Amino acid sequence: MKILVTAGPTREFVDSVRFLSNRSTGKMGYAIAEAGRNRGHEVRLVSGPVSLEAPDVDEKLDIVSAADMLSAVKSNIEWCDVLVMTAAVADWRPSERRDQKIKKGADSFHLELVPTQDILKAIAPLKGDRLFVGFAADDGDAAAEAERKLEEKQLDAIVSNDISRDDAGFEVDTNKVVIFQRHGAPIDIPLMSKRELGVEIIKYIERAV
Ligand code: CTP
Repeated sequence: MKILVTAGPTREFVDSVRFLSNRSTGKMGYAIAEAGRNRGHEVRLVSGPVSLEAPDVDEKLDIVSAADMLSAVKSNIEWCDVLVMTAAVADWRPSERRDQKIKKGADSFHLELVPTQDILKAIAPLKGDRLFVGFAADDGDAAAEAERKLEEKQLDAIVSNDISRDDAGFEVDTNKVVIFQRHGAPIDIPLMSKRELGVEIIKYIERAV
């Protein structure tokens, strides 16, 4: 199988030194990419800025912003059989990026944000018979959110992280997820390391294609 994995955060620059980003470390996506390779699949990894050692994949594309990630995904979508969107893509970016560092001195500073493009929605028309797996970090009604995102983003499955727990989600080595499927009952996966979970997710994908 040919698996395209996205991982890590994106950065949306305000000026030459400052950016908006999020707490994603890339660990979950890198674990999926590594597990995919270890189980004999071809893997391409599109990664935001992270401080992890690169797994042994067939190709790694380093990107910075949500717009960069969208173009990297677009140029690799025809290649893949499966897309796993683990990346924590920024939903907002500054409406303009100043070329020079903004100086202090003003009493207040107004930052206008505009939405970034939703990558999954943008590539939905290119889906064909590919399997699309999304990720969600939710601390509310996970099942309702998953159902909405499955529909809106044309996903076959969404892996929902419970970020209200200390041992799951961002900046930890373990994760507790439920896989919500477009067809079929939710699969509750027990707490485990992100590396182990990477293998479980690849095994799930092998069964689902
Ligand atoms: N995603 C995407 N493009 C974006 C934002 C998110 O493709 N601009 C993808 C993520 O990679 C993930 C899925 O959409 O696989 C769900 O992301 P999530 O942040 O949970 O959902 P949002 O669409 O951002 O919705 P909300 O902010 O309402 O939770």
